[in-house]
Amino acid sequence: MVDSVIRKIISCVSSVCQHEVLPITQSTLASSGRPKLRSQTSQVVHRSLPFPTLAPCRSVDSYEKLNRIAEGSYGVVYRARDKLTGEIVALKKLKLENEKNGFPVTSLREIQCLLMAKHPNIVNVKEIVVGESLNNIFMAMEFVPHDLKTLMETMRSRNTAFLISEVKTLMIQLLSGVKLLHDLWIIHRDLKTSNLLMTNTGHVKIADFGLARSYGDPPVNLTQLVVTLWYRAPELLLGESNYTPAIDMWSIGCIFGELVNNEALMPGRGEIDQLNQIFRLLGSPTEDSWPNWTSLPNARTIQFANVPQSSLRQKFPYLTQLGLDLLSAMLAYDPGRRITAEEAMRHPWFEEDPLPKDPSQFPTWPSVASGERRKPHSPTAPHAHQNGVDDTDDAGTNTNALKGTAAEKGPSIFEFESKEGFASGFRLNFGKK
Ligand SMILES: Nc1ncnc2c1ncn2[C@@H]1O[C@H](COP(=O)(O)OP(=O)(O)OP(=O)(O)O)[C@@H](O)[C@H]1O
Ligand SMILES: [Mg+2]
Repeated sequence: MVDSVIRKIISCVSSVCQHEVLPITQSTLASSGRPKLRSQTSQVVHRSLPFPTLAPCRSVDSYEKLNRIAEGSYGVVYRARDKLTGEIVALKKLKLENEKNGFPVTSLREIQCLLMAKHPNIVNVKEIVVGESLNNIFMAMEFVPHDLKTLMETMRSRNTAFLISEVKTLMIQLLSGVKLLHDLWIIHRDLKTSNLLMTNTGHVKIADFGLARSYGDPPVNLTQLVVTLWYRAPELLLGESNYTPAIDMWSIGCIFGELVNNEALMPGRGEIDQLNQIFRLLGSPTEDSWPNWTSLPNARTIQFANVPQSSLRQKFPYLTQLGLDLLSAMLAYDPGRRITAEEAMRHPWFEEDPLPKDPSQFPTWPSVASGERRKPHSPTAPHAHQNGVDDTDDAGTNTNALKGTAAEKGPSIFEFESKEGFASGFRLNFGKK
């Protein structure tokens, strides 16, 4: 009895939150009664279903657990098979053990944001399933074989890194998903490589909405204890509570740097060290680069190193001027001047050689999440084709891989791709005329 009531409540939450994202047309604009969009130029309209449907959630027993993928701060994630359809999914168990005040708001937000934001680059939640008690609630999501953090660790152990053309493909997809979130007035608040999933065909899916939340205009005070330290924007570190989606753009800048150099951009050991790392990389903020920054709560209490000059160029010696320009725009100190997702997608860096690689041309890697240890033989191992030499071993590992970070590889990355046209490049429709 109690069980069925719980199921109905969860089911109701899911269906109330369920929304459709439709292509924008004159008729949807006219009929939908003012969709709530941040950007007037957005390609999608967010429309609520008129009435919630009431149907019980399925039981978690509908799935056969295959293996544990990870245990994060908010829940355990399993790989599982739908007994009915055979479909492989990721089951994220929501952490509810010590809840005395009912269903936790963090879990509600996570479910709500994921159900609202349907997009090819945002992980798809299929259903909410329940176990025997309120402590056993799971989100069934599409299973995505890689997260970028684990994948980059695998790549590092094989002395390989993403090519610039691949970084572009990953970045443009990330920006596209984040643009939708910001259009829906959602801040993710925990963008980092372990929360970015990737399919075996090079498609990025933003995951882990455990810290995501809707924001409004005018902004309300929000907690500053968000975003994993290495990806945390300076305004958060300095105690700003009226922050904006620009904090996500800072995280995207950190991810961009990490993808290019194949190592975390600013791995701080604590909040003060994080700020000092930021200042060392970008030069200390000034009244010009960030007006009124000194009036932020922590700016008055902390002593910082005074760094007159940015060392971004030295850190990314092989990034083109346009690439560096985009990175600098994401890492702008002043949140009001930081580039938006929509602007970033239109940045000319994506249009210069090497062009973004077609996702179907991405090399495949063993999926740690699927329990695969060795990479199956892959004729399209990274780098080999660009060198015109097939120097992969049996496991598909490139034995002639270039050593060190992507930046150390030098201009050859650009030359091979643009000259040989191996990755003839693909362009997403940026919405340009
Ligand atoms: N849909 C999915 N398909 C495959 N793997 C997934 C999926 N969702 C999550 N994972 C894996 O589980 C890990 C943890 O998931 P998630 O980030 O959602 O949980 P979390 O508890 O919020 O973690 P953390 O606090 O560490 O960020 C991810 O880094 C990823 O490796
Ligand atoms: Mg996570």
